[in-house]
Amino acid sequence: MAVYPSNHPMVKHKVSLLREDTISLKKFRELVDEVATMLTMEATADLELKQQPMTCWSGNISAPVLANKQPTLVPILRAGLGMLNGAQSILPCATVSIVGIARNEETLEPESYYQNIVADISERTALIIDPMLATGGSALATIELLKESGCKQIKALFLVAAPEGIELIEKAHPDVDMYIGSVDEKLNDKGYILPGLGDAGDKIFGTL
Ligand code: PRP
Ligand code: URA
Repeated sequence: MAVYPSNHPMVKHKVSLLREDTISLKKFRELVDEVATMLTMEATADLELKQQPMTCWSGNISAPVLANKQPTLVPILRAGLGMLNGAQSILPCATVSIVGIARNEETLEPESYYQNIVADISERTALIIDPMLATGGSALATIELLKESGCKQIKALFLVAAPEGIELIEKAHPDVDMYIGSVDEKLNDKGYILPGLGDAGDKIFGTL
């Protein structure tokens, strides 16, 4: 298990810009996309390579290429979709496994409403993408679904995470690596991250 809060100054800078109260829909979406791209770079830094013979302009060479299938990206609907383009810009051949989970705002329990996991999930690393890890319930349900579907390696990318959510995932699934834009302070009594971003899905889709 490992928790990787990003140390990149541009990630920190852009997450801070995301927090601005009066941020426009356009700017919020752009920044989510940019930070998702950078976190995907960090989360894929250990992808395995193999040497492949190829003919280059200067003759025959052996060059490094990916050894395995690209990961499957797992956006948790809805807000996770905001990170999809950024992740795909680094992993253009990644498949996409969709998981629909909405947090019940009264109970804070995750409610699953849709799933479409790629058939070859056992051959791919899954990269869960969701802007927010709050109580951790939605991510926990997604990890359990992926494991039940045969997934052997899971990483999860969050723009902002609460310590409560990190602890839940660490305890229940110590094999899952988490790549995080910012580890924030705590949850408020309604389960929102402080200082946080507010409701990320509403800000991405303009449903405020
Ligand atoms: C948000 C967020 C996560 C979840 C985090 O989604 O995008 O999926 O809440 O909360 P948790 O860690 O306490 O489970 P939400 O359920 O609000 O749905 P949305 O993406 O449709 O906005
Ligand atoms: N979901 C969000 O969008 N924001 C939070 O702070 C918590 C859950």
